[in-house]
Amino acid sequence: MRTYSRRLPAQDAQNAITHAVADFERRGVAYVDLTESNPTRCGLEYPDDLLRPLGAAAGLTYAPEPFGLPEAREAVAAEYSRRGTRIDPANVVLAASSSEAYGWLFKLLCSPGDGVVVPRPSYPLFEHLAGLEGVEPAAYDLEYHGRWEIDVASVERAITPAARALVVVSPNNPTGSYITEAEWARLADVCAANSLAVIADEVFADYPLDALESRAVDLASSDEVLTFTLGGLSKSVGLPQLKLGWILAGGPAGDRARALAALELIADSYLSVSTPVQLAARHLLRHGALIRAQIQDRIRANLGALRTAAAAHPACDVLRVEGGWSAVVRVPAARSEEQLVLDLLRHERVLVHPGYFFDFPREAYVVVSLLPPTPVFAAAAAHLLARAADV
Ligand SMILES: Cc1ncc(COP(=O)(O)O)c(C=O)c1O
Repeated sequence: MRTYSRRLPAQDAQNAITHAVADFERRGVAYVDLTESNPTRCGLEYPDDLLRPLGAAAGLTYAPEPFGLPEAREAVAAEYSRRGTRIDPANVVLAASSSEAYGWLFKLLCSPGDGVVVPRPSYPLFEHLAGLEGVEPAAYDLEYHGRWEIDVASVERAITPAARALVVVSPNNPTGSYITEAEWARLADVCAANSLAVIADEVFADYPLDALESRAVDLASSDEVLTFTLGGLSKSVGLPQLKLGWILAGGPAGDRARALAALELIADSYLSVSTPVQLAARHLLRHGALIRAQIQDRIRANLGALRTAAAAHPACDVLRVEGGWSAVVRVPAARSEEQLVLDLLRHERVLVHPGYFFDFPREAYVVVSLLPPTPVFAAAAAHLLARAADV
């Protein structure tokens, strides 16, 4: 039998949850999907003419630029002034998505077999993207003490001689925790001492909920350590299908200039961002604010509904959500997470993620998306909590 690259993960057999979902789909059984994180499927109102600039005649000319068209890079830089951060468009690199940006940065920073240090719990994406570049991920821990804190000692333990970069996700998916100024100061020192670059995934930074004043944002504006901040239309304006993401490069000037020169070679090999979306970038970023505002209202309302539902079930605990699109509920560990998720699907017709999907250190947690329409979300959350508390 033909074998494929070791970069690919082992072909997982379907687990019991994917099997049960496939069975529902096959039989046409309706259920509420509280794992839905695709904003275009969550009943938000997108202006009908939002995509009109994609048809501009200027898009008929191809004039490729490795880092993107100057006007699009300027539009992204201008976007950061919303948060009071000044970004030089020369430090903006466009990519098709933040996932692609990870791939480029792993290629830039790591040779095959080198390591990257990644958060746990977190979205399983990094492990996969690292594997595709032949790079080894090593996890550091976030610990919950009333908020999810970065265990800096675990970061130091995860750094091997092969480590080349530290990934920080702020706010993290699914823990919803921003990195604080104090955590960032300590991590920047650790990275400087170990010659690690930082990849700061801030795709959800626009969605604070119960956020601390002391949160650090736009990490690439720091001078101390070579840092790449990731962002994109997927999350900042709820348009994942347009395929426009970006990298902001920051850190000591010489280090940054050398990194950008090398990154240019990678970007030039792909030239993956379409001309029409670049020409439309300024318009999309400006008018996408309408969608961002709806998402902000939605996640706030849904978190409120989740907390209201949880108030009736003291055995369950909605953990602090500082920002982002998901919430974590600690539930009694009377049955396995998998069994609970299956019970919820079969008996309540509600689908949630088990904590183990995100590598939580212990059971039992479930994770829900805060994006579904509020009436649907609130009813499903009430069922979820009642079932989880019923032990
Ligand atoms: C934390 C985080 N970063 C990046 C991504 C990927 O986003 P993109 O659509 O820009 O590739 C996701 C997707 O959910 C995510 O949760």
